[in-house]
Amino acid sequence: MKKILVTGGMGYIGSHTCVELSQAGYLPIIVDNLENSKIWIKDRLLEITGVDIPFYQADCADSVVLNQIFEEHHIEGVIHFAANKAVGESVQNPLKYYHNNINSLLTVLEVSEKHNCQNLVFSSSCTVYGEPDTLPVDESATIKKAESPYGSTKIFCETIIEDFIRSSNVYKSVLLRYFNPIGAHHSSLIGELPLGVPSNLVPFITQTAAGLRDSLVVFGNNYNTADGSCIRDFIHVSDLAQAHVKAFEFLFAQSQSTCTAINIGTGQGYSVLQLIQDFEKTTGVKLNYTIGPKRAGDVEAVYADARKAKETLQWEAKRSIKDSLRDAWNWEKTLLK
Ligand code: NAD
Ligand code: WQD
Repeated sequence: MKKILVTGGMGYIGSHTCVELSQAGYLPIIVDNLENSKIWIKDRLLEITGVDIPFYQADCADSVVLNQIFEEHHIEGVIHFAANKAVGESVQNPLKYYHNNINSLLTVLEVSEKHNCQNLVFSSSCTVYGEPDTLPVDESATIKKAESPYGSTKIFCETIIEDFIRSSNVYKSVLLRYFNPIGAHHSSLIGELPLGVPSNLVPFITQTAAGLRDSLVVFGNNYNTADGSCIRDFIHVSDLAQAHVKAFEFLFAQSQSTCTAINIGTGQGYSVLQLIQDFEKTTGVKLNYTIGPKRAGDVEAVYADARKAKETLQWEAKRSIKDSLRDAWNWEKTLLK
């Protein structure tokens, strides 16, 4: 059984990916400092997969611990999820973001090199495209100057990986550029755990529907879009997680060094107001919302050209927006208990 080191594997996307890896016959080995996740996720992963997934509570920028893990296990690939991801916080505290997101990647690369582990999947983001010149946006689009330090770390990390791979003739990497992951595992055992007031749309919707928040504010209805609200590519987190399994199948099949960026989205643009209507239809819950001003730094519209993922990874999103919203709502309801 191939062992895959999953940094940040207790987090939202990481935990769903561990499920998919395990169900595809890999053994995930998690390293996470629990800065933005909970220890009970480990039991939930056991309940879903039947596998007691090895877990190390540690900072993945700690090379001593990372070396120990590589010595204990024959690791054949790494997925590097571990990062801070709150866009607003990154504007307030940029050094935290540069420190954590860059140092953790550097350590992962140095220790992987030391142990001759040649396969890396990196969590990048559609944020690297900023406001795209054409839609749907494909991987050859211009990388724009980031709107936030968080976004800058994704651009820097992609560049660091590209330079590292260029310097070798053996290392291989897929840079997965995620669009907007939403929803939760259909079991409702794992899902998103926002700290404090959510800044992302779907957790704010489900918390408002649950009565934890009075009202959702839609940030702007005078964009140049059909209904005036922003457009995004919302993708079910389990579909996104499956793309990581496909990325390893691709990497393990490559005999030569490679570094390639791949969009992970549905290819469909959905507006914020459409999403709210679909949430109400799917769940039967009426949502309190008001229209407010635009949020600084928001792009008007972004959705993926998802053809490269299909051609290169034989992956495409299968779940609908309604599946995502139903699963997000079922997960929120379990949190209320
Ligand atoms: P998350 O916060 O739920 O998960 C990240 C996990 O990493 C957490 O469990 C946290 O405790 C851990 N972590 C952070 N720094 C660490 C460190 N130095 N050492 C060990 N563990 C550490 O976030 P997520 O939504 O699952 O995002 C995962 C990755 O995907 C991140 O790199 C994020 O930037 C990227 N991404 C997320 C989204 C999104 O909308 N959620 C979109 C695009 C890209
Ligand atoms: C979606 C839409 C808001 C909250 C962010 C990061 C991006 C990536 C994904 C990591 C926008 C609107 C939101 C609310 C609203 N993360 N909205 N009211 O901004 O597309 O992307 O997460 O890489 O880098 O920037 O996601 O969920 O915050 O917003 O109207 O209370 O919902 O304006 O149009 P976003 P989001």
